[in-house]
Amino acid sequence: MENFYITTPIYYVNARPHLGHAYTTIVADSISRFHKLMGAETYFLTGTDEHGDKIVQAAEANNQSPQEYVDTISGLFRNLWPDMGISNNDFIRTTEPRHVKVVQEILQKVYDKGDIYFGEYGGHYCFGCERFYTEKELVDGLCPDHLTKPEYISEKNYFFKMSKYQGWLREHILKNPDFIRPERYRNEVLSLLESGALEDLCISRPKSRLTWGIELPFDKDYVTYVWFDALINYLTALEYPEGDKFGKFWPVANHIVAKDILKPHAIFWPTMLKAAEIEPYQHLNVHGYWLIKDTKMSKSLGNVVEPLKMKDTYGMNAFRYFLLREMSFGQDSSFSEEALVGRLNADLANDLGNLFNRTLAMTHKYFGGNVPAPEVEDVIDAEIKKLGQDAMQSFQDNFAQFKFSRALEGLWELVRGLNKYIDASAPWTLFKEKNMDRLSTVIYVLLENMRKIALHVWPVMPDASEQMLEQLGLSFDVNKYNLAKELDVWGLLESGSVVAKTSNLFPRVELPEPKPEAPKAKKQEKAKKAKKNESAEAGPTYAEFEDFTKLDLRVGTVLDVEPHPDADRLLLVRVDLGEAEPRQVVAGIAEFFKPEELKGKQVVLVANLKPRKIRKQLSQGMILAVKSGDGLQLLTTTQPVEPGSKAS
Ligand code: MSP
Repeated sequence: MENFYITTPIYYVNARPHLGHAYTTIVADSISRFHKLMGAETYFLTGTDEHGDKIVQAAEANNQSPQEYVDTISGLFRNLWPDMGISNNDFIRTTEPRHVKVVQEILQKVYDKGDIYFGEYGGHYCFGCERFYTEKELVDGLCPDHLTKPEYISEKNYFFKMSKYQGWLREHILKNPDFIRPERYRNEVLSLLESGALEDLCISRPKSRLTWGIELPFDKDYVTYVWFDALINYLTALEYPEGDKFGKFWPVANHIVAKDILKPHAIFWPTMLKAAEIEPYQHLNVHGYWLIKDTKMSKSLGNVVEPLKMKDTYGMNAFRYFLLREMSFGQDSSFSEEALVGRLNADLANDLGNLFNRTLAMTHKYFGGNVPAPEVEDVIDAEIKKLGQDAMQSFQDNFAQFKFSRALEGLWELVRGLNKYIDASAPWTLFKEKNMDRLSTVIYVLLENMRKIALHVWPVMPDASEQMLEQLGLSFDVNKYNLAKELDVWGLLESGSVVAKTSNLFPRVELPEPKPEAPKAKKQEKAKKAKKNESAEAGPTYAEFEDFTKLDLRVGTVLDVEPHPDADRLLLVRVDLGEAEPRQVVAGIAEFFKPEELKGKQVVLVANLKPRKIRKQLSQGMILAVKSGDGLQLLTTTQPVEPGSKAS
């Protein structure tokens, strides 16, 4: 089995991690686990991209130095991954010395070879994209992505002779049909390469304009353009040029990206590698975008899906299953909690969960929980075995080609087939008829197939898979099992071993209902009743400690305040919680405070209150206050603390 190297894009630290980042990283994790379970040695890399204008601007907006700022946001990514079941081997940051060294080495090599030259360039520069646009690329004079007017900048810079490698790259893509996959992206790149001459790539920024970057080894007045720096991370982590890992994993390098960064990965990167005399990567795997109701996720629309929240509500395994099953890799997909709930109930609770619950219960009812030995084989058993082999083959073939949705669909043929097999062979009748030989075979066929299914879902739902195997009396060990062998072996589950009584791994889920606002009168009545109960025999209502820990109370500093445009009682308070972006809170405190009185004050915020729109304005938390007489006092700390400090 070949080794396998898988990378995610290194994420910009100017935004908090969201569904899109989680998807790519979960895909990388799943494919890495898959190859591991197929017997390969794998290396899985993710990390953060920390240089460039964008980062400097975000740090400034946050009143932090770039270093402080990148440390914080990079930490958010790093800390999220274990919660998503991610098993990366390395986490790289472009601000690390090991990376700076490799970038400078490669720059020097390409420079010495004569593929980097100094020249003058004037162009339309979009700070959001951190790149120059040609007149032709602008839409009505605006950046096509940000719809803002780029600045015309003319300056001396260093250029990489990308155009020199255009012909070579085209040939390479033609000779290697799956260099870029799926095919639509390969075609997109080929037509880009065929539509005209590639321009050379401007790979420096003068320090007079930007210092937050890697200094060019041959000119200390310039730093490296962020993309030339970032792409090299894939080599740094393998300890290029001398590391063993480089020799072992670079020939099997697989990158995963979404379509937004196709061009840098499909054109800049291979030509950079060629110039540095390094073999091209093996595959570029490109996926589409997660959309929310057919529009892009964006902070300003307030529709950003937070992966942690999804994991907390539905569980990590189910969330991962949904993402891989729902999106056809390569195409855009719409995310909604309705779709998620529907899929979990149908595929996990009804199909897989039921299969486990029914079979385990029958094993207990008919055999006291012991795996029976197969006795009398029937045609129906041979049929289901064949179905199983086909399903597993389809799963493995499709998974290896990044067709995750099809792979799972294929495997579920077996899950559903087994449920039908139960109905068709009617174990309850066999039991009534005391046909124990047949009954033993039916239960064994079910349990052995369940073992195979549990193993196959490990790349996607690692914890659930291990628990399923445990319920079958087995303990998982990645070195002990091999998916490829499962196509041929039968009967690994030992007769006589003991299985669990129930499974209940995949309960039915419901869409969390937004709590309807009780009418005022009803509310007051309810409150009165509660008070009465409290003073009578019921005693106070206690909150469990667990309930208290669900609240994320944080101290933040008020940055600015303005009146709500549509409501006199409300203020829009922007609070710094030490995150990438300040929070906006809509607070009903206008009658007690003037906006300028609040500026600079520290307040206590319920930071994980579900964001909601109040009179069309997004509110991302609640400020805690105390009513006192006719006035209102805000909760705060006795001494100023770091914004974002957690109250406990
Ligand atoms: N820093 C660069 C990448 C440098 S790699 C050498 C960058 N960072 S990013 O933070 O903007 O991440 C972009 C990537 O995040 C996408 O390519 C994709 O992997 C993921 N996604 C971001 N939004 C997404 C969706 N809405 N849907 C799916 N994936 C998305 O670009």
